[in-house]
Amino acid sequence: RLLIIDFGSQVTQLIARRLRELNVYCEIHPYQNVTDAFLAAFAPRAVIFSGGPDSVTRPGSPRPPQSVYALGVPILGICYGQQVMMQDLGGRVEAGEHATAEFGRAYVEQAGRGDEFLSGWFQGGREQVWMSHGDHVAEIAPGFQVLGTSPGAPFAITADPARRFYAVQFHPEVHHTPNGRTLYENFIRLAGFRGDWTMGAYREEAIAKIRAQVGDAKVICGLSGGVDSSVAAVLIHEAIGDQLTCVFVDHGLLRQNEAAEVVAMFRDNYNIPLIHADESDLFLSALDGVSDPEVKRKTIGKLFIDVFQKHAAEVGGAEFLAQGTLYPDVIESVSFSGGPSVTIKSHHNVGGLPAKMGLKLVEPLRELFKDEVRALGHELGLPASFIGRHPFPGPGLAIRCPGEITREKLAILRKADAVYIDQIRRHGLYDEIWQAFVALLPVRTVGVMGDGRTYDYACALRAVTSVDGMTADYYPFTHDFLSETATRIINEVKGINRVTYDITSKPPGTIEWE
Ligand code: XMP
Repeated sequence: RLLIIDFGSQVTQLIARRLRELNVYCEIHPYQNVTDAFLAAFAPRAVIFSGGPDSVTRPGSPRPPQSVYALGVPILGICYGQQVMMQDLGGRVEAGEHATAEFGRAYVEQAGRGDEFLSGWFQGGREQVWMSHGDHVAEIAPGFQVLGTSPGAPFAITADPARRFYAVQFHPEVHHTPNGRTLYENFIRLAGFRGDWTMGAYREEAIAKIRAQVGDAKVICGLSGGVDSSVAAVLIHEAIGDQLTCVFVDHGLLRQNEAAEVVAMFRDNYNIPLIHADESDLFLSALDGVSDPEVKRKTIGKLFIDVFQKHAAEVGGAEFLAQGTLYPDVIESVSFSGGPSVTIKSHHNVGGLPAKMGLKLVEPLRELFKDEVRALGHELGLPASFIGRHPFPGPGLAIRCPGEITREKLAILRKADAVYIDQIRRHGLYDEIWQAFVALLPVRTVGVMGDGRTYDYACALRAVTSVDGMTADYYPFTHDFLSETATRIINEVKGINRVTYDITSKPPGTIEWE
């Protein structure tokens, strides 16, 4: 495995992404944790130093333990990582001046004799790269040679091929270094990785780890119907069988048929012991008269925890709580720049569970990115339609029903949403869209159907494309699709007589209406 030492770059996670795409298993660890003992125990086959915001010219700036250079394994230093390597090994770094600082797109030209590290690079004589540095290397360390230069970085690519130490001033992991992947490919080949880290291997390892951690104790897993908790549950069940009990709290704010599908899948198909807690009455009465979005979230979040605890206690004697925590949630960021940001939505994730339950955690997905969780789900035989599901917010339909929630409104919303999703699936668009749903608007409008006047609700269709939900664009349905869908909803759903399509992107809008 490969060790990435994180010096606090905003894009360290992308290094891990690139390596995982090449089927190399790697872990990111903040430099503070990487001690001599850690290195010896981790026994990396290669090491990457990430970028970072500090200046190596500042006394006390972040460093790796010097024993890293004696491991005899290949090292790749990126940006701050390059500067660290140069300074540690006898070169010299100068603090930033405007003349040599470089931010954004730059072009690197070949220098020197070339090297295996650059195989496939410089095809067009030069390569586009992404730079973001204030300081620069002024003198390279003994044993190093220059393999590439740019106007702002005479030592854009440096190498000591004998020791297999490579150092670049730019960021090969970002999108704006279009051929960056080639450098990672070359580096891992130089390091002797076969690129055979697969989900099959991960599954075996994860199962062994779960067994070792849990022994013969009982485990509780909260199921939400989402991909992460489902994959975690199936994996853990494979490891420890009926020592696992799943608790599925139905808050009455799920989509049409969702609760039944979850029960059918886990209890009937996978034979996983499952407590299906239908607590919709409780949640809906707590939400009675509540129209403020944040109050809705807090009400649901708090109640969920109480209800979950109550049902978890029914299992009796459980020592562990399973959670579908993913890698992006656990990477200890050493970023220095993350200031406080404004709360737009409190995102009370009703799946997030309290430390106060006093249970130890089992988190078998801690090392995976979202798309890897999907791959693991596939490996475990979960149906593709289940794995590819759009994200669904913890507070469910409560935040898709702006204003006060009633059972009547929820019933109308469920039907309209089911028609809309059916339309999307029929037209083969489901996988192109990141998230799609109907919001039932708190207005009634006048319409005419047959010879009669109607006075019913209006709804809004929402569909967005996105990578991570942080920014989003509305999906460009054809007019035919939209009119066919509007007609179906109005004909099939009693209570709605007007359909609109939301064409707001995020920002300035958010994906959900509340
Ligand atoms: P917004 O509406 O903030 O949504 O653009 C971004 C993503 O987050 C989901 N979302 C939530 N998920 N609890 C959740 O678990 C929440 O309170 C919540 N609010 C929004 C939303 O569905 C989208 O995927």
